[in-house]
Amino acid sequence: MPSSHIDDDDDEVGVERRNERARKGVARDAAPTRTLVVVPWRAERPARGEGGDTTPRSLDARVEEAVGLARAIELDVVANPSVRITEPKPATLIGQGKVEELKRAIEDEKIELVVVDHPLSPIQQRNLEKTWDAKVLDRTGLILEIFGERAHTKEGRLQVELAHLTYQKSRLVRSWTHLERQRGGFGFLGGPGETQIEADRRQIQERIARLERELESVARTRALHRKNRKKVPHPIVALVGYTNAGKSTLFNRLTEAQVFAKDLLFATLDPTLRKVRLPHGGDVILSDTVGFVSDLPTTLVAAFRATLEEVIEADLILHVRDIAHEDTGPQAKDVANVLSQLGIDPDDRDRVIEVWNKIDRLEAAHRAELLAEGARPALDAPTAIPCSAVTGEGVAALLDLIEERLNRGRAVFRVEIPVAQGELVAWLHRNAEVVERVDGEDVVSLRLRVPEKALDHFRTRAGRFIREVRGKVVDRDEPEATGGGYDPLG
Ligand code: GTP
Repeated sequence: MPSSHIDDDDDEVGVERRNERARKGVARDAAPTRTLVVVPWRAERPARGEGGDTTPRSLDARVEEAVGLARAIELDVVANPSVRITEPKPATLIGQGKVEELKRAIEDEKIELVVVDHPLSPIQQRNLEKTWDAKVLDRTGLILEIFGERAHTKEGRLQVELAHLTYQKSRLVRSWTHLERQRGGFGFLGGPGETQIEADRRQIQERIARLERELESVARTRALHRKNRKKVPHPIVALVGYTNAGKSTLFNRLTEAQVFAKDLLFATLDPTLRKVRLPHGGDVILSDTVGFVSDLPTTLVAAFRATLEEVIEADLILHVRDIAHEDTGPQAKDVANVLSQLGIDPDDRDRVIEVWNKIDRLEAAHRAELLAEGARPALDAPTAIPCSAVTGEGVAALLDLIEERLNRGRAVFRVEIPVAQGELVAWLHRNAEVVERVDGEDVVSLRLRVPEKALDHFRTRAGRFIREVRGKVVDRDEPEATGGGYDPLG
């Protein structure tokens, strides 16, 4: 249950500072790298029946996304030309005329880095770097950079470096690593932060082997820590979603309104974990994660299991979707694919809640349609929660649903409270989830679920009024003892 972040034995102050920077988008000390984002596109559409059942992503959306990704690591995007490719060139991907045209722009604009939003072969990358006299990153390289920024545990950083080396090994071109960059400063070209890896395949292989050994030992230590440390006594709710879907905004919206938002139990270790109080008093740990993107290579997903550990171990997953985005369907598919690769069934309604975010951006008719669809119960719960992290609409319903899902499977108590004990009835309404209330002449009969946090109090205050218990009493602190050992009447 505990996340890798809580385990982190790394330099906490440094980690927090870096995370804060990443969240706020505050520029680093060094001037941001002047960057050109090039988006190659093929003119022809896939033939009918070919190319899968998803609509092709629009070019505008691709350009916007590529620029967004570059900005995620605070690159200064000077221009973002899209380049039509009729026939991919083995040497440079892009046609010679266009390469020359871009070269002039790169010189004029003093571009230091070119991001090509397409896979590049090592040869293509090297040729383009030579011609343009600038560093060139392809999409995988850029994604590696972003993951490197977001990996804040020792294990996460080792994983990223390992993935980076594996990527380099396949291409054997000069590059640099996150670790050196993070320790030494920032700067893609020259400067103290850059390390050109002057290594042949054998050297890289040795380094990979060393990293693997280090990772193993870190994992062993973590497992030990975890065993010795008291369990996190709250369920974990993880936010996932396509990049730019609004996860961080929703995370802030859910946490800022909370009494406990300032009780930064975990925020001191990691600002992406916060405690959130549910409507009836239970607490959950909300965890923000790195955004997913399309074309995330499978090998990378495997390498970043540590980074996505909260998701794998989460009790509940909120799949945040930008429902106003023209590519919302394909984006949701991409996220579902990544979840599957992590071993999570994206259609498991008990575990995954879809959040249709940004409904404030929809025109009235479409919005009404979605609201109706979202409210339509599938089995006994809504299909999805339409909401707006910006206006706050739908957020209360989301919290209710989170509570309902977490409490599913929890015991239902039937209590009969004498009418004279109005205060106790009010307390129960505040602290438990009342699923039924019948007001009799002498007693108020309630059926309710009690969040595990309130169980002790509940037993003390209302224990003698319990008439029936259906289901298992879940107590996260002592999971083994919950089967039948607990006597609620005792
Ligand atoms: P990554 O960190 O890239 O994964 O993005 P994210 O999913 O955390 O998205 P983030 O919260 O950074 O939001 C992306 C953009 O969408 C920001 O400009 C937000 O202001 C905007 N946004 C988020 N939620 C809403 C919403 O409900 N309505 C509107 N109109 N904009 C929103």
